[in-house]
Amino acid sequence: MGVPKAELHVHIEGTLEPELVFDLARRNGVPAPAGSVEELRARYMFTGLRSFLDVYYANMAVLRTGQDFHDLAAAYLARAAEQGVRHAEVFFDPQAHLARGVSMGAVVEGLAGAADEARHLGISADLILCFLRDEPAESAAEALRLAEPFLDRIVAVGLDSAEAGYPPAAFAEVFATARAMGLRAVAHAGEEGPPEYVREALDLLRVERVDHGIRSLEDPALVARLRDEQVPLTVCPLSNVRLGLVDAITDHPLARMLEEGLLATVNSDDPAYFGGYAGDNFAAVRSGLGLSDSDLRLLAANSFEASFLPEDRKTDLI
Ligand code: HPA
Ligand code: ZN
Repeated sequence: MGVPKAELHVHIEGTLEPELVFDLARRNGVPAPAGSVEELRARYMFTGLRSFLDVYYANMAVLRTGQDFHDLAAAYLARAAEQGVRHAEVFFDPQAHLARGVSMGAVVEGLAGAADEARHLGISADLILCFLRDEPAESAAEALRLAEPFLDRIVAVGLDSAEAGYPPAAFAEVFATARAMGLRAVAHAGEEGPPEYVREALDLLRVERVDHGIRSLEDPALVARLRDEQVPLTVCPLSNVRLGLVDAITDHPLARMLEEGLLATVNSDDPAYFGGYAGDNFAAVRSGLGLSDSDLRLLAANSFEASFLPEDRKTDLI
């Protein structure tokens, strides 16, 4: 079951297991991206973020209907609940689906319906609408406009996809609009991009959490700021290893982040691709980095603390 925790960095499209890819291809009468589940899984050897994203976007083409998004989220929430996740803040990439002719309503209502049903498993979930940073800011603004009727189901906006060469600055305006609508803000930064992107996310996008942020450690002044302001970092250990950003789990910078007094959390990112869900990531850092029980309790407490839950629910869960 694992320690009770919140998961704050998981892409719902990254929970699409190969078996579900084939089920949905059949159900929707669209071509499967490979000849078999085994052949598809054998492609999950990545040389970096871009090589992963190519497979991630190709596979999600089987997602067509609200029912598909519902089934995807229902499967994730059941697995996460089994691993002790009591609350999840789940990214989705609407621009990728709108481009295939899937409506914003189908995506959001499918995901939100599964979240409502999963409550009986003891897990709650909120949605984070992510903008694709390798698409123009106008496309992000259009996605935000289309999401307006569904804002009661969305807690925050985020920024994801290929990072290097796509600094946060281009999205300052759309993030300001989203914040004015009452949405919270997070962004991927410092995964493969430089520490400067973490600063831009904080100063220009005014994010409340940084997703990944591991490259912040290259910049001592930034580390001091992240510690002083207790900016939460949603770290994804197995993802970093599988994308080659960290050589091995035994070298992962999470231990150093805790030593530096940073508010780090442990998350799965794209569990169908990177070898494990939230509990598996906790287990990997426990054995790989020799973390103590009190480190693990701190990571779990950090996950609730860094969540967008109301203060009274955080207190109940910690
Ligand atoms: N980084 C950036 N974008 C993403 C990721 C990631 O790890 N997963 C899905 N979209
Ligand atoms: Zn991510």
